[in-house]
Amino acid sequence: MKDIKITIIDRQGVKHQVDAPTDMNMNIMELVRSYELAPEGTIGICGGMAMCASCQCYVQSNHELPEMSYDEDLMLAEAFHVKDNSRLSCQIFIKEELNDLQIELAPEV
Ligand code: FES
Repeated sequence: MKDIKITIIDRQGVKHQVDAPTDMNMNIMELVRSYELAPEGTIGICGGMAMCASCQCYVQSNHELPEMSYDEDLMLAEAFHVKDNSRLSCQIFIKEELNDLQIELAPEV
């Protein structure tokens, strides 16, 4: 499988287009961490368990994403800065269909 391109707008508003592997069962939160697009300790605090909302992002492209799980829905109901297009990036796994996905990181809480 090949890499796809994902655009990530960091918390300073800077746009980064990065290569994302589709064969590592990696999620977007882990991708952001691997490119160090958010300081250590400000994203992925719960390790990707949908329990902290530190990885919240706004989905800006029109990709069809998997339905939210009950846990993700619940966490976003309690999180700050939530918008209609909010998702937890740790719950979005990198797949070929997501080529050209664009997300913006929600503010740090
Ligand atoms: S890393 Fe905690 S909810 Fe995504």
